[in-house]
Amino acid sequence: MFDIHSHILPEVDDGAPDMETSIMLCQGLVELGFKGVYATSHIISDTYPNSEEKLKDSFDSLKKEIEKHRINLSIGLAAEYFLDESVLNKINNDIQLLSFPNKGLLVEYSYSQEPEKITELTFPVQLQDYTLVLAHPERYNYWQGNLVQYERLKDIGFAFQMNALSLTEYYGKQVKDTANQLLKAGMIDYIGTDIHHERHLNALLKYFGKTGIQDLIETYSLKNNQFEIA
Ligand SMILES: [Fe+2]
Repeated sequence: MFDIHSHILPEVDDGAPDMETSIMLCQGLVELGFKGVYATSHIISDTYPNSEEKLKDSFDSLKKEIEKHRINLSIGLAAEYFLDESVLNKINNDIQLLSFPNKGLLVEYSYSQEPEKITELTFPVQLQDYTLVLAHPERYNYWQGNLVQYERLKDIGFAFQMNALSLTEYYGKQVKDTANQLLKAGMIDYIGTDIHHERHLNALLKYFGKTGIQDLIETYSLKNNQFEIA
């Protein structure tokens, strides 16, 4: 199975601060039963203005280290884009965005401020054949419990990626309730760890062990294994 959301690249965002931590997180993902992972570092214009080139370089270094340590984990490169005008600017400047092989583009919104005029940004991105994958829809507190709003997002064309730890109380009860609601409504497409650090890893190991995430993928027919990592 494949993890489609992680912050394992060293020194590029609030995930792994150094290569040693990156390697430790990769070893942890193997323990959780993953055979592959997409590195999806933040691209947020004012806090983590990572260029696609910079992430490619960081990815290449991590890939070499993984081989050196003989860790049985394939890695792919994508990113987690904060969906604002800067994504449109990149498209208008013909920058190839870091997406999954099916052109799935992992995007996030602010946790505190509801986005306005959603389709003004989603439509031009979709015109470039990208499919939008919304990271952790259950964590946006202005939408929690509002199934009608989630249905609207699905109608716009978003696929939903839930965080595994959202099913525990790691992010709080509201998140847990919304995650369960979305999962039971059949609205979740993918699961991800969104792993940033050792605390996430320990919690994931504690709650899911080697088989828990795979069981969820099978029970809810999630599409994590839809694309292999080249
Ligand atoms: Fe993330």
